[in-house]
Amino acid sequence: MVDLLLGLQWGDEGKGKIVDVLTKNYDIIARFQGGPNAGHTLEFDGIKHVLHTIPSGIFHENAINVVGNGVVIDPVIFKKELDNLEKFDIDIVSRLLISRKAHLILPTHRLLDAASETAKGKAKIGSTLKGIGPTYMDKTGRNGLRVGDLEFDTWRKKYRALANKHEAMIDFYNVDIEYDLKELEDEFCEGVEALKKLTFIDSEEYIFKAQEKGKKILAEGAQGSLLDIDFGTYPYVTSSNTTAAGACTGLGVAPNKIGDVLGIFKAYATRVGSGPFPTELFDKDGETMGRVGNEFGATTGRPRRCGWLDLVALKYAVQINGVTELMMMKADVLSGFETIKVCTEYLYNGEKIKHLPYNIESDNVKPIYTELKGWKKDLTQLTKAEDLPATLNEYIAFLEKELNVPIKIVSVGPDRLQTIYR
Ligand code: IMP
Repeated sequence: MVDLLLGLQWGDEGKGKIVDVLTKNYDIIARFQGGPNAGHTLEFDGIKHVLHTIPSGIFHENAINVVGNGVVIDPVIFKKELDNLEKFDIDIVSRLLISRKAHLILPTHRLLDAASETAKGKAKIGSTLKGIGPTYMDKTGRNGLRVGDLEFDTWRKKYRALANKHEAMIDFYNVDIEYDLKELEDEFCEGVEALKKLTFIDSEEYIFKAQEKGKKILAEGAQGSLLDIDFGTYPYVTSSNTTAAGACTGLGVAPNKIGDVLGIFKAYATRVGSGPFPTELFDKDGETMGRVGNEFGATTGRPRRCGWLDLVALKYAVQINGVTELMMMKADVLSGFETIKVCTEYLYNGEKIKHLPYNIESDNVKPIYTELKGWKKDLTQLTKAEDLPATLNEYIAFLEKELNVPIKIVSVGPDRLQTIYR
């Protein structure tokens, strides 16, 4: 069986930390979608690590990490990640395997992303500009360059044809973007050489065989359910399926081989980039969440928009993914609030609704809140569930009742050790 670990909001829920904490229970950690638009932050022994493409199990000797076919890889960023890991004396070659079917992000994909965003003006998606959208477009358009192509000398020819097409497309956008393609391509080729030092595999076969041998596998999601290309707040989404089904297509796992579905959410909500966010706060409370929660994107450094927990949206994500266990992150950030608000319904066209409608722009949807008592206690030093303050337990019990799924982990800080099991 393959367990899944998924973000249930707009990304940045803390998946990296939880994968790192859980890796001791698994033999294989596998990424199945997204690319270096993700920034998975892990903290232990006083050091903070940010991973973009490499799975978050890389720091554990017991686990093999797989980058699956559904992932898009930028060799330039990948090389930087590898270089950053060098000082930690990790046997990367034996611990990290790459799917031949994963697609490559070309420098011109990044340029196209920038051209497309610039051309959109105010309607821009707020992309991380890592070339994600254009790369998945080439994948579904059947033009993409894949990791497996690098095993044949013909890859340069394929590369050239694709890059030429991209240059014509960039011209078409007619926006002011300066670039030195030669420099970018030299960097790309260096990245390709670094990537080629790793082992390329038929990952679906590898995962299948591992299942036959009874290995424990955790599929690590990137971004969050509300950024899913089909079920997210389209068009303000990423270009892959971030939800449970994405693990089947992004790794080649049959649906009946999915085991536990672990869903991660923050005790409040954040979003980076554009798009609707019904519970967004523009006041002191939102500012406090951002400051205390250090809410800045791990990939782009952009400040994240903050707001109260949206149970309508969270319930939707629980349903779409078939979540079996929940993990609540950053409970410590809410310490000190007199009252905690939770959105339990929307006012939509003058009617109270409890499901996510087609359009959740603020003109259409107004959140209706339930207020709960806050807790004053600093949680960051706590290690046992018995020590959690009574009002936090009431908050947890309220959420469990509404979502009908148990909350098994409460995270009270970024460090591995700041993790409370219930
Ligand atoms: P893209 O995937 O870079 O094209 O970005 C599309 C949207 O998804 C933008 O609003 C990004 O801010 C958002 N996004 C992409 N990756 C992440 C992530 O890892 N965390 C949070 N938001 C993300």
